[in-house]
Amino acid sequence: MAVVPSHRFIPPASDSAEVGLGNVPADLIERLRCPVTDTSVRPMSDRELDDLNAAARRSDAAHLDGSAVDGQITAALVNADGSLAYRVEDGILLMLPNSAIALDRASAARHGNAHRPEKRAVQSFYDQIGWKRDEKGDFEDAVIWEDLRPVSADYIRKCHLRVNRYLQPTGDYLLDVASGPVQYPEYLTYSQGYQRRICMDISVQALREARRKIGDKGVYILGDITNLPIKTNALDAVISLHTIYHVPQDEQGKAFEELYRVLRPGRSGVIVYTFSDPLLLRWGNKPARWWRVARQTAPVRAIKKLLGRKPAPQTDAGKKADSANAPFYFHAHPLSWFTSRKWSFPIDIVVWRSVNVWFLRTYAHPKRLGRLLLAAIYGFEKLFPRFTGRHGPYPMFLLRK
Ligand SMILES: C[S@@+](CC[C@H](N)C(=O)[O-])C[C@H]1O[C@@H](n2cnc3c(N)ncnc32)[C@H](O)[C@@H]1O
Repeated sequence: MAVVPSHRFIPPASDSAEVGLGNVPADLIERLRCPVTDTSVRPMSDRELDDLNAAARRSDAAHLDGSAVDGQITAALVNADGSLAYRVEDGILLMLPNSAIALDRASAARHGNAHRPEKRAVQSFYDQIGWKRDEKGDFEDAVIWEDLRPVSADYIRKCHLRVNRYLQPTGDYLLDVASGPVQYPEYLTYSQGYQRRICMDISVQALREARRKIGDKGVYILGDITNLPIKTNALDAVISLHTIYHVPQDEQGKAFEELYRVLRPGRSGVIVYTFSDPLLLRWGNKPARWWRVARQTAPVRAIKKLLGRKPAPQTDAGKKADSANAPFYFHAHPLSWFTSRKWSFPIDIVVWRSVNVWFLRTYAHPKRLGRLLLAAIYGFEKLFPRFTGRHGPYPMFLLRK
């Protein structure tokens, strides 16, 4: 695979490639690759676009998943052998393998490609639910899977900021897979010292929201973390938070390796994952489990009856999570899966957060006591970042090349 030389100069957004590619800098296009043929890509000329549109109208050109090409294509990239094109729409580069357009029927037959059903389920969840906002303006993803109460805000904010400690503060391109809408303010700090942030996601809705948030600072690519449309050693930083456990379990190793592959030597990256059944949560679970058992005992039932207490109603967030979980893909490997596997890079794990949302909602009392508990947990994580990283629910994998 080609190694990309280090380009220190990145033209400002206004100097970008002049071929209808929005604000995509020419030197970024040099770092992209066709994810199907692993070859370079270049912008299509006006004449090539005319030919492509004519072929699409005759149904000679179609996406690799077999779907028809709709509407007029005004900008696209083409791979080195001219067999596949990637459309650019609203400034978003559509570079998923299954969104590649085969320029003739022979190429379609040669490269035929479709998303796995697990990926389709995650993509449609985020396009249709996860990255839509609720009536308060919060993303449904956060409403379902984050503790948005004020008592947890400071702890969560400080954990988000931890990522900065392991990234070099400046550079050219920072790749964020899967960026979502860059939903929390602290996420902006990761790319503050970088010239551009490449937001990549499998959800087009995520990228539209990300563009609304960071505008010309971003470059927006629809892409798959298990087959990045980026050349080897091409970028100054990579991050991926809360993505890989949504990737089919047998492709998760590939996702880690892909992020390492595109990182430039001498640079670093951060991956936030979740472990299944971590030791610290097994301990943390115990008091709640004892309480659930105790609640069934006769004395506690009698006291509750005397006090006239009804069972707590299910929260909106709980209901949404239940209905959202049905078609959704999630698989977390345990720590032992990582330590027993051969990797092309050293595995280094520190803490991102040592408690999960269930723990926060169960134990962080909304008033002062909750704040004290979370301050103590944060202090413990700071003292023992490796222990809490390996044995808590949310580790950070540090990539150094
Ligand atoms: C839980 S959200 C996390 C978003 C963001 N990183 C954050 O921390 O807020 C998971 C994101 O991963 C994206 N995703 C899932 N599978 C993907 C894949 N194979 N390639 C790229 N993105 C993917 C989803 O579309 C979604 O935006």
